[in-house]
Amino acid sequence: MNMSNFQTWMQSVQQRMESALADLLPDAALAPDRLHAAMRYAVLGGGKRVRPLLVHAAGELAGASPQRLDRIGCAVELIHAYSLVHDDLPCMDDDVLRRGKPTVHVEYDEATALLVGDALQTLAFQVLADAPLADSHATQLSMVTLLAQASGSRGMAGGQAIDLAAVGQQLSRAELEFMHIHKTGALIRASVLLGAQAGTPLPTAEIEQLDHYAKLIGLLFQVVDDILDAEADTATLGKTAGKDADNDKPTYVSLLGLGEAKQLAEDMLAEARETLAPMGGRSARLEALADYIVHRAF
Ligand code: IPE
Ligand code: IPE
Ligand code: MG
Ligand code: MG
Ligand code: MG
Repeated sequence: MNMSNFQTWMQSVQQRMESALADLLPDAALAPDRLHAAMRYAVLGGGKRVRPLLVHAAGELAGASPQRLDRIGCAVELIHAYSLVHDDLPCMDDDVLRRGKPTVHVEYDEATALLVGDALQTLAFQVLADAPLADSHATQLSMVTLLAQASGSRGMAGGQAIDLAAVGQQLSRAELEFMHIHKTGALIRASVLLGAQAGTPLPTAEIEQLDHYAKLIGLLFQVVDDILDAEADTATLGKTAGKDADNDKPTYVSLLGLGEAKQLAEDMLAEARETLAPMGGRSARLEALADYIVHRAF
């Protein structure tokens, strides 16, 4: 697709998300004000909003309204933001910088960071449940279930447990893939599927193509995150570069080396493109997003 159109669309979704999130988050003046200020600090004013972009791009395929997609995008981004706050805690990756700012536990304190995560996670489900977001209640209920599964012990939280247990270990290629699919892939896959469920039901074949695409880019996202951690600098990333090696984390770079990891990312991108091919121009934004995920600078 025309790249300047894509850039314009991306910026407009990012702006919509910023204001939708600012509206949904409790006011910082509301008690308990320190917790609410920290929640807003964790969510607003940073982040690429890749998951909401995927919600929108997939939702448009099903003709879902932008208002619904904003709300679903917020739910997914709130889960993501919570995961980052907890991921940065000293008991996990012990990071001091996130989205170019001090991490929540540094700016506030550890207990507040823990509670920010708790509160963002529950807010995500509230946002998904308390307004009509699909054509039937049954579909909306299945969306709530989908987000819960993607976030929980069989999804993201489980992947994070595997990540912590893997510190200092040499993982096989299959084990590393399993870890990445869970800690990062699950929420990205859910973002695509949730968007698609918010509109007129798509043909089964298209849902399968979308799901295959979503699984590929979910893994791909973390492969590229591993590459950037090894290759980019802290100022560009807005988070501490070289942290994976410092923390002795098994990554695609430690397993394959930079060159082979990059080749793998390109191969997976090609497969994601092929998967979308039957949908033709309708999936142009999803294709552009896959390309963005691989070629992003941070
Ligand atoms: C970083 O996610 C954590 C991973 C799951 C790899 P993003 O790269 O999407 O972070 P933001 O939201 O843009 O800050
Ligand atoms: C994060 O993986 C995955 C989740 C937050 C669920 P990383 O630990 O690699 O993310 P960054 O590099 O700190 O953003
Ligand atoms: Mg981590
Ligand atoms: Mg981390
Ligand atoms: Mg990382």
